This record gives sequence, C-alpha cells and structure tokens, in this order.
Amino acid sequence: MKVTVVGAGAVGASCAEYIAIKNFASEVVLVDIKEGFAEGKAMDLMQTASLNGFDTKITGTTGDYTKTAGSDICVITSGIARKPGMSRDELLGINAGIVKMVSASLIEHSPNTIIIVVSNPMDTMTYLVHKTTGLPKNRIIGMGGALDSARFKYRLAEALGAPISDIDGMVIGGHSDKGMVPLTRLATRNSVPVSEFLSEERLDKVMQDTKVGGATLTGLLGTSAWYAPGAAVSGMVQAIACDTKKIFPCSALLDGEYGLSDLCIGVPVVLGKNGIENIVEINLSDAEKAHLSSSAEAVKNNNAALEL
Ligand code: NAI
Repeated sequence: MKVTVVGAGAVGASCAEYIAIKNFASEVVLVDIKEGFAEGKAMDLMQTASLNGFDTKITGTTGDYTKTAGSDICVITSGIARKPGMSRDELLGINAGIVKMVSASLIEHSPNTIIIVVSNPMDTMTYLVHKTTGLPKNRIIGMGGALDSARFKYRLAEALGAPISDIDGMVIGGHSDKGMVPLTRLATRNSVPVSEFLSEERLDKVMQDTKVGGATLTGLLGTSAWYAPGAAVSGMVQAIACDTKKIFPCSALLDGEYGLSDLCIGVPVVLGKNGIENIVEINLSDAEKAHLSSSAEAVKNNNAALEL
C-alpha cells in the first residue's frame, strides 16, 4: 500500500506520522513545493521509526511526481492555511489553482488512485477535483466531517464529564462554521441519547463550540490545527487501505441523496477498498434538513465563485 501526501506542512506531516505509526502502509511519499522541505520532514519522521516501532518507509520529494507513481491513495493538503480571523472561504482562489495542478499531476502518475482532499475550502476543492479530473465519484473524497465529528465528541465528553470513548456522534454538512450540522439528536453516551443528560442550553453550547472548533484553535495557535486533522485523514486512509467498511462523514459528490445534487458536502459514507462504497442516508428531522440545505447553498455559492 503506497500513500502519497502532497503538502508536507503541518497537516500533511501529521497525517504521514499517524499513517506510519499505525503501520498499515508500506510506503508514504511526501511532496512539497518548498525546496528540501518534504525530504527533511521525511527524514525526521524516518528517524522516529525505531523509536515508534514502525516499518513504513517515508520519503520526500520537491515536486517530482514520478516518485509518487503507483500510489493507491493520495492526500492533498497543499495550499495556504487560514490565520486568526480568516474564514476558510478566503483561501478559495489561491488553493483552487494549487489543488487543480496537484490533482492533475497525481493522476498522471497514479491513474487508479483514490484522492482525499483536505485543502480548504474543502467541499469546493473536492468538487473542483471532480470537475477537473473526471475520476469516478467513489475515488474522490473530502475530509472535514471526520475532524468536525471528533471535535463534537470532545465537546460532548467535556459537557458530560464522560470519557470520549463512551461518546458517539456525527457532524454532517459543509466544512465551515455555519455549514456544519452536528447531529445532537442522534449523539449518544453508551447508547443513551445525550439529551437524557444535557439540557437544550448545554447541547446548544456544545453545538456552537463544535462549529467554531477550528477558529478557536486558529486563535490559540496563530495558524490552523494539525494533530486532529492529521489523525482524521489517517483514519480515512486506514479504512480504505484495510477495507474496513467503517462509516465516516466525508465530503462526497451527491446525485440526489439528501435531495441534493451537483455538489460535494459532508454525509455519512462507508469507506473501503473502492473509496466511497456507499452513501448512507439517515432520516433527518425537518430542522436538520433545513440546516443541511442552507449549508449546501453556501457550498454552491463558493463553487459558483470558481465558475464550477
Ligand atoms: P501549511 O502551510 O503548514 O502546509 C501547506 C504546505 O503546502 C506547505 O508546506 C506548502 O509549501 C505546500 N504547498 C503549497 N503549494 C504547493 C504545491 N503547489 N505543491 C506542493 N506543495 C505545496 O498548512 P496546513 O496547516 O498543513 O494546512 C494545509 C491545508 O489544509 C490548508 O488549506 C488548510 O486550510 C487545510 N485544512 C483542512 C482541514 C480539513 O478539515 N479539511 C483541517 C486543517 C487544515
């Protein structure tokens, strides 16, 4: 199993590290545009192999895509990240050019690859890859919901004073502060609905804290987060590489599911060796449907700004 990660920055390197530590891939190739940067990150990570006990071979290259040839899975994290006070949408123009060029180079050398898009605004970047590459829709997947759901579970556990492993919950919709749809109605603590433990007010606070989860970290760190994003991507890569058929909320191209078409947005999907094996349609309440549809509007506006 060969995995390429383009962008050896904060998220790309974290993703490569988690993939290596989980020890399911034979090879990870890091690619960056900054001279020597991917090579340096790869060497540093390889020097953790004997300490962390993994056999994955990590290499780096400054833009030589022949080194990525035959990748089973490619992750795109290249581009600019937001600074405090910026929205993900402000990255649109610059990242679109980068993502378009990178996805074309990846497919040239790995025509059968599955692509995971991370660069923001992620739903629009995922749609851009669909529109410009023509790859089958099961092979282009956006990462956002896996991270937002992890942040949701963290906030729920905090509010409940419960261990995170007892919490189940999912965030669907667009990967933006307003677009996220945390499904509090379906969230559970050991199979018991969280509404049994938390007042509507507390649940509302959990929802708000989840939605601004990325902005809160950007404010604290001065740049966007990397551990949880890297872990979220590595979980998706592992599900595909090991054909686990686990369900993740991912940005997927919709064709009538949830009453939506011609956009990529976060919905639960089954991940396996074919990428998106199935889109899971949950029965949403009227309020959840309305929230998802306004989230879809915002994603479509971004898509339109790129004339997609
Ligand atoms: P970063 O600035 O640390 O790393 C980005 C890397 O991309 C840099 O090393 C840069 O040299 C490289 N790069 C730029 N243009 C390139 C090109 N044409 N080819 C190859 N490499 C290129 O940024 P960070 O924090 O790693 O974030 C990366 C992206 O991921 C951002 O767009 C950010 O907004 C997004 N992100 C998305 C998340 C999600 O849930 N979907 C979560 C966190 C970040």
